[in-house]
Amino acid sequence: MAVRICAVEDIKKGKAIRVKIGEEAIAIVRTKADQVYALNDKCSHGEISLSEGFVDNETIECWAHGAKFSLETGEALTLPAYEPVAKYEVIIDNGDIFLEIDAD
Ligand code: FES
Repeated sequence: MAVRICAVEDIKKGKAIRVKIGEEAIAIVRTKADQVYALNDKCSHGEISLSEGFVDNETIECWAHGAKFSLETGEALTLPAYEPVAKYEVIIDNGDIFLEIDAD
């Protein structure tokens, strides 16, 4: 099921927003190079919202202890996080961002 999130233009380049779909909090990230990614919003190292972190090229850094995650894969790139965060498929259609979410 594809869920519309917002327009691409609603997110500033190099920033992230937090959205909730059901129980799931998701960070929607727009890079300076204008790529859009979606990751689970909770840092795998603690109860911190990744969307409050720092976007740098294709990574996002948690502000709490500096763990970096790949926006392309959700993989933890630096300690203290070592578990990945879930990544969601993003569809851009006519300037709008949609997420592919499993309906349950
Ligand atoms: S809570 Fe994110 S790096 Fe520690």
